[in-house]
Amino acid sequence: MDTLDDAASLHVTGGGPARGSLRVPGDKSVSHRALLLSALARGTSTITGLSLGQDVTHTRRAVERFGVGVTCTGDGRVMVAGPIRHEPDDVLDHGNAGTGIRLTAGVCAGIDGLSVLTGDQFLRRRPMDRIAEPLRAMGATVDGRVSGDLAPLVIRGSNLTGITYAPRQASAQVKSALLLAGLSARGRTTVQELHPTRRHTEEMLTAFGGRVTVDDTRVSVEPGELTATDVMVPGDPSQAAFWAVAALLAKGGEVVVEGLYTGPGRSDFVQIVQRMGADIGFDLATGTLTVQSSRLRAVEITGADVPGIVDEIPVLAMAAAVAEGTTVISGAAELRAKESDRISSTAAMLRAFGAQVTETEDGMVIEGGAQLRPGRVDSHGDHRIAMTAAVAGACAAEGEGITVIDDWDAVATSYPGFARHLVELTGAATVGDV
Ligand code: S3P
Repeated sequence: MDTLDDAASLHVTGGGPARGSLRVPGDKSVSHRALLLSALARGTSTITGLSLGQDVTHTRRAVERFGVGVTCTGDGRVMVAGPIRHEPDDVLDHGNAGTGIRLTAGVCAGIDGLSVLTGDQFLRRRPMDRIAEPLRAMGATVDGRVSGDLAPLVIRGSNLTGITYAPRQASAQVKSALLLAGLSARGRTTVQELHPTRRHTEEMLTAFGGRVTVDDTRVSVEPGELTATDVMVPGDPSQAAFWAVAALLAKGGEVVVEGLYTGPGRSDFVQIVQRMGADIGFDLATGTLTVQSSRLRAVEITGADVPGIVDEIPVLAMAAAVAEGTTVISGAAELRAKESDRISSTAAMLRAFGAQVTETEDGMVIEGGAQLRPGRVDSHGDHRIAMTAAVAGACAAEGEGITVIDDWDAVATSYPGFARHLVELTGAATVGDV
């Protein structure tokens, strides 16, 4: 861990255009699933490139509580000896990780025993009825605070029955929880999605020998055992998006990010910034993203776009603040249920840097043309707000003060070493207050 990772506040000043080439951490979504599917599978799976962020570390510890042996070899490989041997022997603490708790809940619903799942103060405020309701319909007993909606969750797994379920949200987390539970259900489990969401669970289930069918927004899994396999975790496109915007914001910026995930549903931000006029390319053969600073124009983002850029909206909003014209984001009410209320926290962050933004119920309207000036931002415990603010702070007009990001340590949930990469790419000076 870098010393700046656990700073309570980060001070950023004096950056230039982002220039350089780098690799970002292993994909967080793939990492959670690699651990959980390896735990469910018979035999030893080897995972390479696992995210070292706290979210994934919580999933790794959760997996161990089921009696699954996890060995880190020291050369970047993690060996997971499945299958799950018993109910978890203690409370599963998922920290800040919505993906961790929801996917693990799906696993818990399918095992014969009792599981208690919890998380930090932010996770304990996020809605869980979206998974509790369908898991109950499959036959599990799921309870939690506030009529079963909030963690801690108490799950008594049982003999499940497959269902067909249409979640009210386009959510890969909900879909994945049901597919994982469906592995041990009687009969087929089908999820009918509102819009297609990221496909990692389907891809990885197939790699582990699961029987999955995907027909656009309709995904089904048959019950069955999984067999251990090896997983190479690619770089996380959502983390690359910060450096893409860092390159776009300041004249002379030029960034190359290598080794990213190239599958569906994770690089839509590339098309969105292309629509904004960005000079950006994504080589699907190698997973290499190449970005050069560009003049940007406003864009319209609607509900169908949102699942593909759900994690990139804060940093795209920062790009929209400097673009020419008015950007309208709608159909993004799901953002209110993320690590923070991301409509409010993104709007407050943009304002702190001098942008004009109006919050709506399901999105925001951003007046472009802002000259970013240093500001003070509260991350509200949300890593993506903190990282966006750091990028903006490095690009903000020099000589006008210092950007301060409070609750900076949230960044360690997904991107330990982010501040070091910021310094290397932009030359910004960073100081952490512990
Ligand atoms: C994720 C799905 C998304 C995303 C989250 C990771 C996943 O959440 O925001 O960071 O790994 O399945 P929803 O599917 O609930 O929108």
